[in-house]
Amino acid sequence: MPFSKITGLGHYVPENVVSNNQLSNLMDTTDEWITERTGIKERRFFTEGKDTVSNMAARAAKVALERAGKKTEDVDAIIFATLSPDYYFPGAGVLMQRELGISKIPCFDVRSQCAGFLYALSIADQYIKSGMYKTILVAGSEIQSNMLEMSDRGRTMSVIFGDGAGACVVEAHEEKGKGILSTHLHSDGTHAEELLLKLPSSSMFQRGLVDGIKESGEILPYMNGKLVFQYAVKYFMEAINEALEFNNYTQSDVDLLIPHQANARITEYVRKEMNMPPEKVISNIHKYGNTTAASIPIAFTEAWEEGKVKDGDLIALAAFGSGFVWGSVLIRW
Ligand code: ACO
Repeated sequence: MPFSKITGLGHYVPENVVSNNQLSNLMDTTDEWITERTGIKERRFFTEGKDTVSNMAARAAKVALERAGKKTEDVDAIIFATLSPDYYFPGAGVLMQRELGISKIPCFDVRSQCAGFLYALSIADQYIKSGMYKTILVAGSEIQSNMLEMSDRGRTMSVIFGDGAGACVVEAHEEKGKGILSTHLHSDGTHAEELLLKLPSSSMFQRGLVDGIKESGEILPYMNGKLVFQYAVKYFMEAINEALEFNNYTQSDVDLLIPHQANARITEYVRKEMNMPPEKVISNIHKYGNTTAASIPIAFTEAWEEGKVKDGDLIALAAFGSGFVWGSVLIRW
């Protein structure tokens, strides 16, 4: 049976940097409030006419392919995670495929929000282990700034989210004990409405996009922040521990933890629970905010570029998000 491993990582973030102070000119908020509650100092917002979810992912994928020493014609499949696709349909996967000039290979779109990249990675892992494909491109990309409202009404959500993309190449290999060791995925729809963007909705007349909808605020994302926090810290820990137990490791064996960059306080909670020093837990939310499905591949790429990912390291990826969905991936680099 073949095994799977990540052989190349890349990311792309829009050039437009938006600081907390800039937001405080648009809404009743402050740098102190945002920094203390979330750890975010700035984020990137896309430029219309230049950045799209699929072309940002393609830019990240080109870097990942080059680092993996692969050409676009080597790619057997694309798995694309996003909650903000370019179009309602078709999905962003085929648009990235077109952007990369690849034809006929299958493209999957994954709608698992902040855990989307881990869900996508898990699908890639399974296809490779089954022997069906040898080289898979996995991408996570989001443009979220244009679903936020830069006003007092929208401030709870508007200060948290940002835009960006990350990608990796997953390849088949033969070395047992190296690469992706396991993936564990979970969902529970009980609290689906506690973190959601409801409209446009296929279950509503005119998909809910009726006159006055903009003014009503129902077009904006909603989050029950306190509930999300409670479940996030619980399920981050459960998913990590599940992966460690499955592979007969303990928390002290982990060399690097790359969590979904939801909120610096959530990351800090997990770090303390695992008794890990800050340098072993990747956090870049201060630069990008929460980029949902893109956050792990962006953080992973930066950690790799900074030399923090070393040969033989045990790396834990973990995520939690709207659904609720959550999970972990354990990697021996
Ligand atoms: N600036 C200033 N004040 C604000 C802002 C803002 N941007 N947003 C809300 N407030 C106000 C509220 O209106 C409220 O005012 P009030 O006391 O007069 O009513 C006050 O600040 C406190 O509001 P809370 O919602 O109670 O703030 P809380 O301390 O819970 O912090 C936060 C909000 C940061 C969202 C917190 O609940 C949290 O960390 N939740 C975790 C969820 C999370 O981080 N999700 C990330 C995205 S989802 C994911 O990736 C899994």
